[in-house]
Amino acid sequence: DLPARVRIHEVGARDGLQNEKTAVPTEVKAEFIRRLADAGLTTIEATSFVHPKWVPQLADAEQLFPLVGDLGVELPVLVPNQRGLERALALGARRIAVFASATESFAKANLNRTVDESLAVFDPVVRQAKDAGAHVRGYVSMCFGDPWEGAVPLHQVARVCTALRDMGCDELSLGDTIGVATPGHVLELLSLLNEEGVPTNTIGVHFHDTYGQALANTYAALEHGVTTVDASAGGLGGCPYAKSATGNLATEDLVWMLQGLGIETGVDLGRLTATSVWMAEQLGRPSPSRTVRALSHK
Ligand code: HMG
Ligand code: MG
Repeated sequence: DLPARVRIHEVGARDGLQNEKTAVPTEVKAEFIRRLADAGLTTIEATSFVHPKWVPQLADAEQLFPLVGDLGVELPVLVPNQRGLERALALGARRIAVFASATESFAKANLNRTVDESLAVFDPVVRQAKDAGAHVRGYVSMCFGDPWEGAVPLHQVARVCTALRDMGCDELSLGDTIGVATPGHVLELLSLLNEEGVPTNTIGVHFHDTYGQALANTYAALEHGVTTVDASAGGLGGCPYAKSATGNLATEDLVWMLQGLGIETGVDLGRLTATSVWMAEQLGRPSPSRTVRALSHK
């Protein structure tokens, strides 16, 4: 059975922008987030409190976060360690996300740590965030394939997922960082996680659309009972530390499918498309989303 309602976790302002070469002005980012909220998105990942040298585009997190704090929406932020958590909590962040990897290669490339070293870093971070009353998401990258290691064994993914769950993460997000997943693979991982005692209602899915499979993968996850889906307005994005990662599933493509299925999201597709067209103008190139193109050329 398909769910009646899906919560979209909008990542355009973070995953979407983190890979942009030229610095997007802080005020443009703030306006992007305001427009996303105005389009009905209620969970809008705002930025990352990571090392500014690692992700220069998000070096303005301290300036940006206060500009959007009063929108009445959830504004999750990424933190890679203690220092990141302190920066986020100092600004009043209520939702934080740690980000682990199912593979050693990406843990090294993205966090400069082994998988176990990074889990050891996250453990006290999650605990302190929970003590501070924050909601904690645990991302797991490279759940379906890795550009250096190829296929990723399911049990390896499950180990990292259950470690994050045991630390106290409220929610997991299964990352297909390079967009190689197919629907059967998604169902296998979800079933294994259920067997390991991870309930479906604590699992979100995070698909990148490199091979055009993101919607099919989402549909499979919905049929399994998943109700939290990550997407990026206009299909912006890619990860700077994962070669061959393209943008996330475009939020417009997702909303188009969900509307057709009669699944509620609270999102106004017209306003959202207008936002992505506006953002594309700021970035100087058209949105890769088919839905954005179709609706804006009518
Ligand atoms: P490191 O170089 O090992 O850091 O990087 P360190 O712990 O050795 O510290 C070195 C210096 O950095 C110290 O300063 C720290 O204070 C400072 P010094 O004492 O030398 O003056 N530092 C910081 N400064 C500001 N904020 C911080 C911070 N931490 C340390 N938070 C580190 C390790 C984790 C910091 C680095 O690797 C990093 O920032 N990585 C972030 C990479 C990233 O953001 N990637 C993109 C997000 S993940 C993603 O996109 C995937 C996802 O979308 C899901 C999917 O698609 O799969 C989520
Ligand atoms: Mg991503």
